Amino acid sequence: MTHFEGSLLMSTQIYYFSGTGNSIFVAKELQKRIADSEIISIVSMLSNDSLNIKGDKIGFVFPVHALTIPIVVKEFIKKANFEADYFFAIATREGTVFRGFVEIDHLLHKKGKRLNSRVVISMFSNDARQKNYRKPTEAEVLSMEKKVEEELTIQTEIIEMKRDLSNMDISYTINCSSNPLANFLLEKLVIYGMDISKYVGGVNYYYTSDNCIGCGTCENVCLSQKIKLVDKKPIWQKDVLCFMCYACLNYCPVKAVQVKSIIGVVSYTEENTRYSHPFATINDIASQKSGKNK
Ligand SMILES: Cc1cc2nc3c(=O)[nH]c(=O)nc-3n(C[C@H](O)[C@H](O)[C@H](O)COP(=O)(O)O)c2cc1C
Repeated sequence: MTHFEGSLLMSTQIYYFSGTGNSIFVAKELQKRIADSEIISIVSMLSNDSLNIKGDKIGFVFPVHALTIPIVVKEFIKKANFEADYFFAIATREGTVFRGFVEIDHLLHKKGKRLNSRVVISMFSNDARQKNYRKPTEAEVLSMEKKVEEELTIQTEIIEMKRDLSNMDISYTINCSSNPLANFLLEKLVIYGMDISKYVGGVNYYYTSDNCIGCGTCENVCLSQKIKLVDKKPIWQKDVLCFMCYACLNYCPVKAVQVKSIIGVVSYTEENTRYSHPFATINDIASQKSGKNK
């Protein structure tokens, strides 16, 4: 039995989850700006039987998954007992609507807390299933990075001053279609699909193409430890929940990891390029499991 007592930690703790480094970049940049702060991997915390987290300010940094918060972030917030004055959240996304802050606020509310501030930051997509998906150029990455840094300067001030923005609209609604009802129903469907995936052991829609070289990178970066290399081929175990981070897809050095098409969603991973944040190494991703890379 392992227990985590966070009382000896820094006054600002930034808990992060990241499949391809966008959220790691944000967490690290924020940590540099906030005095007496540290970043802690959410994945490394999950194996603890109890989580007692104390601090002055506690933050969550993660990618948007299917319009909401990743399953693993939800599980972490549900499981932990928090003792803190101030809570903040930063979501990185490609650019769709995001409903997750309402969810976090709801989870914290059950523990008598509030989500005090939050922001969504648009970065590049790591979802290579989409038609015409393309990797950003270096110039695009640099320009995006500048915007991210500007936003983080604003957020740092908000967090350090403990500004309470909890009364502002936190649904981050952006109408993607001209039909609000269709939009609403689509959102509900996507979020529901994400939610039920945890009851079926996680989706199992990956496969490898013939060019797989059996190098084991996918197993190394797999944050849920769903992938096991058997006879030098990755096997996605059915009874292990996939965290949907797409690290296996994006870090495969020969683009052999693919996502299958499912009803209504055609996957173009065989023809598409891959994305990972330029500063995020394989070790940065994989070490979220042990929490030993700071
Ligand atoms: C399974 C999956 C679902 C995603 N869903 C959304 C989405 O609904 N909206 C969005 O804007 N981006 C979505 N994205 C893109 C990521 O949120 C975005 O690229 C994020 O910055 C990746 O962060 P990371 O590198 O820290 O994992 C999705 C990515 C994946 C892998």
